[in-house]
Amino acid sequence: MSKYKTLLVEKKEKWAEITINRPNVLNAINDDVVAELHAALDELKDDPAIMGLIISGAGDKAFVAGADIEALLKRGREDALKGINQKLFQKVEDFPWPVIAAIKGYALGGGCELTLACDIRVGGKTTQMGQPEARLGIIAAAGGTYRLPRIVGTGIAREMFFTGKIIDAEEAYRIGLLNCIVEDGEVIGKAREMMVKISKMAPEAIRLGKKALNKAASPSHDHGKIESEYQAILFESEDKKQRMTRFLEKRNNK
Ligand code: COA
Repeated sequence: MSKYKTLLVEKKEKWAEITINRPNVLNAINDDVVAELHAALDELKDDPAIMGLIISGAGDKAFVAGADIEALLKRGREDALKGINQKLFQKVEDFPWPVIAAIKGYALGGGCELTLACDIRVGGKTTQMGQPEARLGIIAAAGGTYRLPRIVGTGIAREMFFTGKIIDAEEAYRIGLLNCIVEDGEVIGKAREMMVKISKMAPEAIRLGKKALNKAASPSHDHGKIESEYQAILFESEDKKQRMTRFLEKRNNK
């Protein structure tokens, strides 16, 4: 039996695969997912047998549809200052080996931010990506405000943040958010194909290459702290409470 409640973790020959497994809520990230992902990443990073990681979401509908809104509604200023998902996604970015996000369906909010912390994003025909946090009265404070502009450029990132628009796979590919698009059924296969190629490279060249790329891309001052401080203000706002409550009520009234 798996030791995880919310993850499936599998080791292949040279890499590991983590599937976030809460398909009933489109794999939304709650406290259990956070704790278990920390544990899985800590364990895998020191595993001498692996030199890569694939992250995906269970079911056909979503990679991850964001942080769990029910949990977010309860969070306040102090939680925001802890940077809970921000620290987790930093650990994904700092994973010593390449991490590929295998994305079917929705990758929204924290789900999109999780893919941004990965090195490579493989999409399916149904992939939809976006940062709709402002609809819920908050910001993308899990690294989104510095990683998204880094990948797609500041103008497009700002449009995505300010309009909350959800983009399809073609558009995500066009702006460089997806590395490639394949049929949904082939997403995991494509990610594995890349892992096979990676695993034929000199391990130290990959590990130090990733380290150098990460250092080149890391912000010069503490953007993470700034994101968390602004989120702390928003987490206390009446608007956030109302908007998140409306989302959850819609669910209960279905
Ligand atoms: N947190 C908690 N639950 C979520 C969720 C989230 N981020 N995203 C989806 N769910 C739940 C829904 O409430 C629903 O639960 P229910 O079956 O108990 O009613 C279930 O997952 C399926 O989602 P549903 O909304 O019915 O699917 P849909 O196809 O109609 O819409 C989305 C899909 C992704 C457009 C919609 O779920 C959505 O907007 N989710 C929130 C996205 C978001 O704002 N993420 C950022 C959070 S910071």
